[in-house]
Amino acid sequence: MRVFAVYNIKGGVGKTATAVNLAHLSAASGARTLLWDLDPQAAATFYFRVQPKIKGGARKLVRGRKPLERHIRGTDYRGLDLLPADFSYRNLDLALDSTAKPRKRLAKLIGPLADDYDHLYVDCAPSISVVSESVFVAADALLVPTIPTTLSLRTLEQLRGHLEVDGPGKLRVMPFFCMVDRRRAMHREVCSSVPTESPYDFLETSIPYSSDVEKMGIRRAPVTAFAPSSQAAQAYRDLWREVLSSTNSLLGWLGPIARRIGFGVRS
Ligand SMILES: Nc1ncnc2c1ncn2[C@@H]1O[C@H](COP(=O)(O)OP(=O)(O)OP(=O)(O)O)[C@@H](O)[C@H]1O
Ligand SMILES: [Mg+2]
Repeated sequence: MRVFAVYNIKGGVGKTATAVNLAHLSAASGARTLLWDLDPQAAATFYFRVQPKIKGGARKLVRGRKPLERHIRGTDYRGLDLLPADFSYRNLDLALDSTAKPRKRLAKLIGPLADDYDHLYVDCAPSISVVSESVFVAADALLVPTIPTTLSLRTLEQLRGHLEVDGPGKLRVMPFFCMVDRRRAMHREVCSSVPTESPYDFLETSIPYSSDVEKMGIRRAPVTAFAPSSQAAQAYRDLWREVLSSTNSLLGWLGPIARRIGFGVRS
């Protein structure tokens, strides 16, 4: 099972929209897919019309006495399951902190699901916390939707600083531009100049600002399902292909290591 966490320290950058659409595309391609909504706001759970409820709440869940599997719900889409959010996730930090080895906890909890699913997408809440540190350990790749502004790039720098000290070595960080509005000078400027300023290589695909994505809240469905020929759905398809191909290639995984030891390999 490959674990993709959709994460950014910043809020409102398109994490949930990305997690929901990529999970839908993954399932539609035939991969057994699970989406874990780790955000107490429960937006991903809402989009899939599932009740945001985990029996016993965050504390019981992280203790792991009952298998995670028991909380999994089906969705309207074949091959796509959801582990819903619960409002008690606002205290997930405290719950994790009360366990032995909190940072390894989420990885341990998802371990038994490895044979049941090909892909796990985690929709993270914004912030850096014990929860995100636990996600960093569990994930193979971190997809980081980034709005093209100077402040967003600073956030990537903060993330790198944090991961260098505390991050697991295997984690692949993959930022991409999201909610791009080409009418804005700053968006155009940042998108064209970023490769030299960013601590991580950006994926080539970017997600445009699109009212079709906003309609997901009304339709309560992935845009890739209700408007598959829209520009936004096409962009999510491109993103999904790029993420898969770069995580499949050996070079993709070796890229960050090669860069660290001084070779200019694009990961
Ligand atoms: N590409 C896009 N174009 C236009 N609107 C978008 C796009 N992506 C997301 N949005 C809208 O922006 C808002 C925030 O998006 P989303 O919930 O995906 O961000 P988030 O990073 O998950 O936020 P949070 O940090 O609160 O969890 C939502 O109203 C969503 O519909
Ligand atoms: Mg969200």
